[in-house]
Order: sequence, then structure tokens, then C-alpha cells
Amino acid sequence: GKVAVLMGGWSAERPISLKSGEAVLRALKAAGVDAHGIDVGPDVLDVMRAGGFDRAFIVLHGRGGEDGVIQGALELLRLPYTGSGVAASALGMNKLWCKRIWRDMGLPTAQFLVLQADSDAPAVCRELGLPLIVKPALEGSSIGMTVVRSEAELAAAYRLAADCGGPVLAETWLPGAEYTVAVIDGEALPAIRLETSHSFYDYDAKYHATDTQYHCPCGLDAAAEQGLQQLCITAFDAIGCSGWGRVDVRMDAQGQASLIEVNTVPGMTDHSLVPKAAAAAGMDLSQLVLCILASTLT
Ligand code: DAL
Ligand code: MG
Repeated sequence: GKVAVLMGGWSAERPISLKSGEAVLRALKAAGVDAHGIDVGPDVLDVMRAGGFDRAFIVLHGRGGEDGVIQGALELLRLPYTGSGVAASALGMNKLWCKRIWRDMGLPTAQFLVLQADSDAPAVCRELGLPLIVKPALEGSSIGMTVVRSEAELAAAYRLAADCGGPVLAETWLPGAEYTVAVIDGEALPAIRLETSHSFYDYDAKYHATDTQYHCPCGLDAAAEQGLQQLCITAFDAIGCSGWGRVDVRMDAQGQASLIEVNTVPGMTDHSLVPKAAAAAGMDLSQLVLCILASTLT
């Protein structure tokens, strides 16, 4: 059948999605799939219908693409698509909802508060400790995030995150290493440990810096890595995710893994993590995209 690779869109992560989408499109074509790229705009459903596509490979990041909106539209057209369904996509885009679900299930995630414009800075800092991290609930790629090191910095951090739209979270800072685990068709790929010279794995460290290091094997012993992979699969399942995705984790002060978030459409650029984890598992990009396509909801 003919596959539409949906990319671009209108979220703040549009430039990343265009890179991810081009990489997926190239890999699908190299694997012999009849794939065509679509830069998603308001006419996407007309384009899908007119083009005679019979399934979609979703490579949209952020709101409008990773949050259930496009998934719901494709359900109406009765077209199968890659990745999570409507509800899991909507939950997965919302860091606040994910944390509430994980906490409710007894899964580890950093202590947090929902910040308001009139939140009392001393009380927030007392409750969460310093430093703390402020982030928009509905963004990706670390957009709108600030590490807050003093009470005085909280208000500006709130405004930056609030400008992204949606709820704003303040979370206790996790001082340990950051790891990520890709989940493909129910199986975890090898974990990657991120090492950055920045204060955290921010937008620049993700896409531009040349000194970001990706450790895979991640340096944990086999039992610890398996524990981490199992935690990430449990977290992925808790949100109801399917197909493929990536769960991000940081170690707390005691060296225990703590869930940061799930990405239901992870980056696929040449700086991105899922392709690196797949490579470590002996899968090239074409094998990876075929595997994701094969897991398409029907
Ligand atoms: N939100 C970006 C694309 C990622 O998680 O890879
Ligand atoms: Mg994300």
C-alpha cells in the first residue's frame, strides 16, 4: 500500500519534525516502501484522501500531531497509523497527567506542583527544594524549560513556560544521570545514557551541540539495565501507549530511576535517540521504520 509520512505540522517542534520526517521517508523508500512525505496543514485529510494513501506513518512532534488530534482524524477516515491511539497520545503529550497516573500507580516520578501566576515562590521552593525545574506540561524537546536555582528566578521561569500554553509544572531537580529507553512493539531497546555539558539535556544539547555524548551500552550492569527497561515498559503501558515510543528517566539523589516523560512520537533526526538505540540492537534505520510500520494499528 501507499504510505503517507506525516511531518511538519504547526507545533513549536515543527523544525524537528521535518528532519525526523525526512529521515523516516528516506529509510522507508530505501526499504522499498511506496512512501510519500506530507507537510501537514489544515488540508491534511483532503491530501490523504486525494493521494490514495492507505496508512500513515506519523512523524509529527508536539501538539496537533503527537497529542491525539491527527490520530482522531485518521480514525474517522478509517486509516491505520503508526504509534499510540487517540487517548494514549493525548495523555502522553501531557506531562502533568502522566505524572499523576504514574504516581497513582506507585511508579517513581519526581515530586511536583502545578504552578500558577500567583504561586508563592518561597513556599514552592521550600516544598520542592532548590534547584527545581519548571516546564510546560504540553511541550517537547525541552522547549520552555528552566532550571531555577533561587526563589527570585521562579517568576521568569513560570512566564517562559506559561507562554507555551497549557499547565506549568515545577518539579524537584533530579541530580543523577539521564537515561532513555525506546520501546518498539512491546520490547525495550538498549538504554542510552545522555551526557551533556549543559545544565540539562536542553534543546541545544539535543539538536545542535557537538559535545553531547550518547552512551550505549549505558554503563549500568545487566540487572540494573533490565530493571530500567522494565520500568520504562511499565510506564509506557500505564499510559496505554502502543506501537513505539521512548521513555525518559533520571536518577534521583539515591540513584533510583525516576520517570520524566513518555514520547509517543520520538525524534528520528540524525541526533535522535531511538535510531541510536536501534543501531545498538543491530537494526539500521530501514529495519527500524519497517518494524514501526508493521506495528501500525489496524
Ligand atoms: N520531542 C522530541 C522530538 C523527542 O522526544 O525526541
Ligand atoms: Mg518529549
